[in-house]
Amino acid sequence: MSHLVITGGAGFIGSNFVNWLCREHPEHDLVVVDLLTYAGNLANLESVLDQVRFEKADIADADTMRGILDGAVGVINFAAESHVDRSLESAAPFLHSNVTGVQVLLDLVRELGIPRFLQIGTDEVYGSTPADVRFSEGDHLNPSSPYAASKASADLLVNAAVRTWGVPALITRASNNYGPWQFPEKLIPLMITNIVEGRPLPVYGDGLQTREWLHVIDHCTAVWAVWTGGEIGTIYNVGTGNDVANIDLVQGLIDLLGASEDLITYVEDRPGHDRRYALDISRLTTELGWQPQISLEEGLNGTIEWYRQNRAWWESIKSGEYREYYERMYGDRDQPAE
Ligand SMILES: NC(=O)c1ccc[n+]([C@@H]2O[C@H](COP(=O)([O-])OP(=O)(O)OC[C@H]3O[C@@H](n4cnc5c(N)ncnc54)[C@H](O)[C@@H]3O)[C@@H](O)[C@H]2O)c1
Repeated sequence: MSHLVITGGAGFIGSNFVNWLCREHPEHDLVVVDLLTYAGNLANLESVLDQVRFEKADIADADTMRGILDGAVGVINFAAESHVDRSLESAAPFLHSNVTGVQVLLDLVRELGIPRFLQIGTDEVYGSTPADVRFSEGDHLNPSSPYAASKASADLLVNAAVRTWGVPALITRASNNYGPWQFPEKLIPLMITNIVEGRPLPVYGDGLQTREWLHVIDHCTAVWAVWTGGEIGTIYNVGTGNDVANIDLVQGLIDLLGASEDLITYVEDRPGHDRRYALDISRLTTELGWQPQISLEEGLNGTIEWYRQNRAWWESIKSGEYREYYERMYGDRDQPAE
């Protein structure tokens, strides 16, 4: 068999990674696994479905996953519940997919003797970052939301599996991603699609929360650098140094789309909202020679163009099941995003 398993491959980053891999390294035999939750969409994989095998499965279902993982050369795990606001409404799905699911995968990697496992993690595990600091991989974990706490738990379980059983695992921790196929509950696609629709642009609190933006294709090349060259038992931060306050980002999108500032609507801040994330990425750049290639301006222009050209993709999401969630969570308010 000797296939590479990509879990969560129908979500935003996973599907970009599968598309990228099919284009850049078509020699790999890929099995893509996804539960197709509200965030998973087979349309994201449309152009490569004849090149990969797709399995609809839950990573926490050990029996099904055993059959899929048997004989694999490795597993890259993108599967997760990923939206902070949803974790404030209910943490249960986050514990299921982000914690139990990861432990099930680690147990199977050990049981089946799979040679490599990469857990896709997040900068949110470090918590809010003081103004003069960029967190390194050895810094302490201080997550603020149930989402971030579930991802920190996953990282701790991976480390435990490495130390206790010698499971051949690594972790990446990336900053905020943007690009094509991102579910329009997240900040950049929400703002782009709301601008296109002429809807208000809800900004949390004073809008001065700072994030480090990473184009999803730069994330894909970083994941591949870690997958092919990273050291077992090691964590690699992935970022760009593109630190931007949310309000400046929204203003930039307004300018690029030629919209009016009057669309900006400040709304009550999210409880536990981290003020700043910022990563020290020197391990990845010095040890593996990785560098981001896509400037924020170039990446935002390309992303805007993608959302303009793929209106049917996001309109069907915004008018479908997501609409019910949106109305339940926010009533007739407009949804802030991160
Ligand atoms: N989006 C970001 O900015 C960002 C930044 C850093 C790290 N990450 C991490 O990257 C990974 C992917 O994030 P994303 O933004 O693509 O999320 P996403 O929500 O768009 O995609 C997640 C995918 O996982 C699938 N999934 C969820 N639970 C599953 C389960 N139990 N079994 C199988 N599949 C399941 C979903 O159906 C979906 O397709 C996550 O681990 C996330 O924590 C995301």
